[in-house]
Amino acid sequence: MKRIIAGATGFIGQHLVKRWLAAGHEIIVIGRSREKINKLFGTTVKAVTWEELAANGQPIIAGAQAIINLAGENIGAKLWSEQRKQEILLSRTQATATLAELCASLGAQSPGLLNASAIGVYGLQPAIDKQLPPAYDESTTIDFTQTPDFLAQVGRAWELAALPAKTAGVRVIWMRFGVVLAKEGGVLPQLSLPTKLFVGGPIGSGLQAFSWITLNDLCAAIDFLLDNPHISGAINLVAPGCVTQKQLAKALGRIFYRPSFIKTPAFVFKFMFGQMAEELLLSGQNVYPKRLLELGFKFQSPDIESALKKIYR
Ligand SMILES: NC(=O)c1ccc[n+]([C@@H]2O[C@H](COP(=O)([O-])OP(=O)(O)OC[C@H]3O[C@@H](n4cnc5c(N)ncnc54)[C@H](OP(=O)(O)O)[C@@H]3O)[C@@H](O)[C@H]2O)c1
Repeated sequence: MKRIIAGATGFIGQHLVKRWLAAGHEIIVIGRSREKINKLFGTTVKAVTWEELAANGQPIIAGAQAIINLAGENIGAKLWSEQRKQEILLSRTQATATLAELCASLGAQSPGLLNASAIGVYGLQPAIDKQLPPAYDESTTIDFTQTPDFLAQVGRAWELAALPAKTAGVRVIWMRFGVVLAKEGGVLPQLSLPTKLFVGGPIGSGLQAFSWITLNDLCAAIDFLLDNPHISGAINLVAPGCVTQKQLAKALGRIFYRPSFIKTPAFVFKFMFGQMAEELLLSGQNVYPKRLLELGFKFQSPDIESALKKIYR
């Protein structure tokens, strides 16, 4: 089947493209640089730039099963200056709006739009002593007046940018990703490094919720959404077994046979990374994959122990 993917040269996209090529799909990759796409994927995919899509988009997307949009500046790559925050926001809203308007122009003939979002859209949750805060699921009403944090604002604007497609009757899925875990990319290599160096342990209070999903389960869940055309709307792509950051540190310690009690105080991260540390490391949210489970998706790694074993052993 013909599948279109934007932002495919990143961590998640590369894995999806390999998986789909192995399954025999025809793939069109949308990105900022034809050279970058060709260098990564050779002639196995068709490369299309955003400019080409803007100039002649309808025939490119016509007949595809779906468009998967992962495009956006990496949120953890650089410190969050005001300019950087604008880049993070606009790279997502502009790419999404371009695709949503193109889909809307085809109306009922358009492929579905599966757009990345993130669990940050629910807003940060205050940690509760010794236990996880109550879980958010897709039925949770998000009160944006109460979630002034940057990632919630990005999530909201990102999701709103896909609305023109939905309004035009196109199937739209907002894929709210948790932290994606894999050995070869994302944040897990950085999170596990202190443990490997015998200095692992809780970050700050360690009570912050950490909602995660393995890269393999994420890709399988995206395929599940692609293969079930009746599904639309917001879907949480997280494993059922959310943990506290302290539980994550302990699980990493067990995997590498290393200690996991060396605390790094919050002020160290705040001093080094400012608001970025507050939102990415020192806070979190407990998110539950209610819809995926109800729809019958089976996680290969539902809990953090089994996930880390699958990843590292
Ligand atoms: N990884 C996670 O744990 C996680 C968690 C929650 C949400 N997400 C979201 O899921 C999506 C994919 O994640 P990822 O980890 O694969 O991200 P990634 O490795 O940073 O890749 C994102 C891709 O987006 C494109 N991109 C970057 N800057 C852009 C810009 N200014 N304008 C347009 N496109 C741009 C790039 O593709 P080209 O250079 O080919 O254009 C890049 O390869 C992201 O939107 C991310 O926010 C990821």
